[in-house]
Amino acid sequence: MMERISSFLKKRKSEIEEILPTFVSSLQAPETIKESMVYSLSAGGKRIRPALVLAMLHSYGRNEKIGFPIACAIEMIHTYSLIHDDLPCMDDDDLRRGKPTNHKVFGEAMAVLAGDGLLTESFRIVAEQEELPFSKRIQLIIELAKAAGVEGMVGGQVLDIEGEGQALTLEELKSIHEHKTGKLLEVSMVAGAILSDAPNQEIQVIRKIAYHLGIAFQIRDDILDIEGEEEKIGKPVGSDTLNEKTTYPSLLTMEGAKTKLVEHVETAKQYLHTLSINTELLEELCDLIASRDH
Ligand code: IPE
Ligand code: IPE
Ligand code: MG
Ligand code: MG
Ligand code: MG
Repeated sequence: MMERISSFLKKRKSEIEEILPTFVSSLQAPETIKESMVYSLSAGGKRIRPALVLAMLHSYGRNEKIGFPIACAIEMIHTYSLIHDDLPCMDDDDLRRGKPTNHKVFGEAMAVLAGDGLLTESFRIVAEQEELPFSKRIQLIIELAKAAGVEGMVGGQVLDIEGEGQALTLEELKSIHEHKTGKLLEVSMVAGAILSDAPNQEIQVIRKIAYHLGIAFQIRDDILDIEGEEEKIGKPVGSDTLNEKTTYPSLLTMEGAKTKLVEHVETAKQYLHTLSINTELLEELCDLIASRDH
């Protein structure tokens, strides 16, 4: 089972990792910041968001090549979010993708600036896609800004930080997960769909799939923060408990969290079946998100 998705992910991961650092190394900028940006970009990671962009193109029968720049742009935004998430003023973690966190190596100021740099350059990459018409570039930039900004990931991180030490309801926690994690997964799928010229009503369905997939992804992340192995997840186990975060396991028990995870993955799959495309690969990706050990 899931051989198809495993080989898809492996191949796309190595292709993405080949070009990802070139977007930074080619910049005319101080070597220190470039080094700090490339350090976190090249530290590994599953590259799930780029894979989602490419899997959408694949499912619509399009040439995946056109998705590589935007896939890299999204991975740069995601990497920036991780660098800032690990800062002492946020989750204060020392390990990321199996290596010391950016601020541990380059200092807090450079880690903040590396994040700023990655975020900003990501928009430039999309704006400079000359083979795309201007209208599409603007559409993608708006989607990216909404997903990364205060209506999206940043907004989710705000609620996450404000929620530390607080008794949150399930609705509140779901909204945190939807925004801090779900929105970047959503824009990955939506960008792939936009590049595939998917009809608007299908993009609406794709947003629903991504909503459930995003929550499922973060529930799994919450579970791995307790049950995971540090060598596999490449980050410290127990960070959430230390920071007094409300998580799915803390709110619903481990068993309750696992039940919710399956429910969200199943709902995502049901919506997937209503699309007119070949959904085999995406279905396997859903299963992978539910069962991943890193
Ligand atoms: C970690 O994301 C942060 C979350 C939003 C859960 P990933 O689990 O995708 O981390 P990498 O990219 O593989 O390191
Ligand atoms: C982070 O959620 C989501 C981001 C926007 C980075 P977590 O704080 O749980 O992510 P990890 O566990 O540090 O990767
Ligand atoms: Mg966090
Ligand atoms: Mg964290
Ligand atoms: Mg976590």
